[in-house]
Amino acid sequence: MTPDMPQQRQTEAKAQANLGEVLIVEDTPTSLRLLASLLDQAGYKVRVAHDGELALWSAQAYPPELILLDVRMPGIDGLEVCRRLKQSAQLRDIPVIFLSAQSDTEDKLRGFEAGAIDFIGKPYQAPEVLARTEAHLALARSQRALALANAELTSTMAQLQATREDLQRAERLAALGTMVAGVAHELNTPIGNCMLCASTQDQRARDFAEAAASNRLRRSDLNAFVDYTVQASALLLRNLVAASRLIDSFKQVATGQAGSVRCRFDLAHLLVEVLGCLRPHLHAAGVTLEIAAAPGIVMESYPGALDQVINQLVRNALIHGFHGDASGAVRIEAATEDGQLTLACCDNGAGIAEGDLARVFEPFFTTRMGQGGTGLGLHIVHNLVTNVLGGTIKVTSGGGETRFVLRCPCLAPALEVQRLPVTGTPDLATSGGVSS
Ligand SMILES: Nc1ncnc2c1ncn2[C@@H]1O[C@H](COP(=O)(O)OP(=O)(O)O)[C@@H](O)[C@H]1O
Ligand SMILES: [Mg+2]
Repeated sequence: MTPDMPQQRQTEAKAQANLGEVLIVEDTPTSLRLLASLLDQAGYKVRVAHDGELALWSAQAYPPELILLDVRMPGIDGLEVCRRLKQSAQLRDIPVIFLSAQSDTEDKLRGFEAGAIDFIGKPYQAPEVLARTEAHLALARSQRALALANAELTSTMAQLQATREDLQRAERLAALGTMVAGVAHELNTPIGNCMLCASTQDQRARDFAEAAASNRLRRSDLNAFVDYTVQASALLLRNLVAASRLIDSFKQVATGQAGSVRCRFDLAHLLVEVLGCLRPHLHAAGVTLEIAAAPGIVMESYPGALDQVINQLVRNALIHGFHGDASGAVRIEAATEDGQLTLACCDNGAGIAEGDLARVFEPFFTTRMGQGGTGLGLHIVHNLVTNVLGGTIKVTSGGGETRFVLRCPCLAPALEVQRLPVTGTPDLATSGGVSS
């Protein structure tokens, strides 16, 4: 072979820094010299080995980026060298180009089997040697870069996942902390009242018993003791009822009606029942009720959950919206489209401040702290709507109207189905509405 590379190109190539490290394994000294000088002049860092054993040692000691390997050599031949390279985890990715007689198809087949990536035929043609060397080095380098980028991506993904899990854990802990603090805070008042009441009553009972034992008891003492006992019992009972209601609310937050059963019912019928119970409260507050429900809406859902949702929304309108205003009004709208129920509860009360709108469904968010507000009502509503009814609930407030809009499927997602007969549609005004 005669390296037919122009002088100028050789000099330019030489001037470029390390194009790649190549190990040439060839037992014929002239061929070895020619190949080495061609690649050296082209700018590659060249190492040589005269036999298979030396090639393996050299590759092991300092892995090259590419190996040009003669197939036929005395001792360990090229095929065996290649097989051993491919068995080593450290060396298996180094591309091996076999050097063999152009016509020797047998050599080529066995070479590919042993793990060769390409062949260069003898007698060598300089452009072919250079082109194949350059191509496979570039390929190997881009593969290595890709593997590296892949490994970095995998590790970044793992880090991201770990960070996300940490964040979720921290969020859960923070939510748990808020929950526990809220529960403790809410229960503290009624239980503190009970303790104060019971300890005072305890002291009074001891004094009473002592006075009775020493015959110092007067009729007025007895009357005062009975009076106090009646008051104390009433106070105890009131506070215990408050505590027990709170515990009921907490239980609802935790279980979200897990045990409820899905059944078939008429929505208008349910509205009459639920709103019927609320009418006296609305009436007492001077608030009118209007119902605009399309007739014949049949649901296969959870009436208990829907009942609670409507109750909470209307009670909230009463508690938070109106303070003895003469023209207070609550309006319930219901309609279906494509198997989806849209139920809205609107009032023309005080409204919700813009900054509070995003927080009203949070547990323990209340603007009536210390005035009987637990801040659990809308949180329970949200849980019921999303976890039980399989829907969504949104709120808007402005322009004199606060509007809670619930959307859920008429056929709720179910675990158990219990079919009840559809009850007749009660006499409900539809578009015009009914006033309380
Ligand atoms: N119809 C409404 N009009 C005005 N404010 C409301 C209305 N409904 C809810 N809110 C606001 O949302 C907050 C959270 O409601 P909720 O979770 O039921 O808690 P609570 O009723 O115990 O305060 C209330 O404190 C109130 O500020
Ligand atoms: Mg409430």
